[in-house]
Amino acid sequence: MVTANVIVSTDDNKLVSVAREMADRMGLPFAVDSGVYGLALHLTPDRLELVQTGPDAPGPVYVDFVEGAMGHRRKHGGGRGQLVAKAVGIKKGFIPTVIDATAGLGRDAFVLAQLGCRIQMLERSAIVTELLRDGMQRALQNDEVAEIIRRMSLEVVDAKTYLVSIDASQRPDVVYVDPMHPERSKTAMVKKEMRIFRALVGCDEDDSALLQAALGAARKRVVVKRPRKAVTIEGPEPSLVYEGKSTRFDVYLV
Ligand SMILES: C[S@@+](CC[C@H](N)C(=O)[O-])C[C@H]1O[C@@H](n2cnc3c(N)ncnc32)[C@H](O)[C@@H]1O
Repeated sequence: MVTANVIVSTDDNKLVSVAREMADRMGLPFAVDSGVYGLALHLTPDRLELVQTGPDAPGPVYVDFVEGAMGHRRKHGGGRGQLVAKAVGIKKGFIPTVIDATAGLGRDAFVLAQLGCRIQMLERSAIVTELLRDGMQRALQNDEVAEIIRRMSLEVVDAKTYLVSIDASQRPDVVYVDPMHPERSKTAMVKKEMRIFRALVGCDEDDSALLQAALGAARKRVVVKRPRKAVTIEGPEPSLVYEGKSTRFDVYLV
């Protein structure tokens, strides 16, 4: 993981003390406006955003489980017919417990929680975790979405360390893994987010070690999300492959 220089900023006077507190808690510098820096966790009255400044900078990245693409998918997403539901092994009478070892902005976790899975999200970037936590807190204000969010929990930790330390009673049915991929296609993650994520967390070059740790922790299967044409993660061959238009799920039965 790269550690990009990030500041915490706000341009709203009423939010200065909250933003300053966040900067102190995370050990990041604070500034009243983000103009001169590369990457900033920017606090607005509505939400926490990750913004990049400079020529050609993409728009802000934030988590929204209620409206936008996630809201649309929640209402029209296809339920158990979705490939990801098959990949994690959801069927009549069985809804797996899941650890999402690469939480990111929580979209895949949210889809699984909507399908009824209890899902524990792990994310090693404190900055990504903060964005996700902010999105979860705002979503709790919406009754329909809050029910889904309550099936999700979040920890800032490296999943490789966490997965080898859990005892038998904490093992989930499924470990879900979606590392950053060097040639990630633009449809696999919205382009602006991919660019900012690259700048923030780089590529997840330890994915093979993560797969090993996941295989040791899952009771039933490990599911790896890949761009459709990407090579498999170095390690054992997947037992099953589910291929969609732009995404593929490699399933390793335990
Ligand atoms: C491609 S993104 C995941 C996107 C996510 N599936 C979603 O739906 O929003 C990969 C994320 O996994 C995190 N990550 C990668 N390896 C990790 C590890 N070993 N432990 C915890 N987080 C990890 C990265 O920091 C990054 O935020």
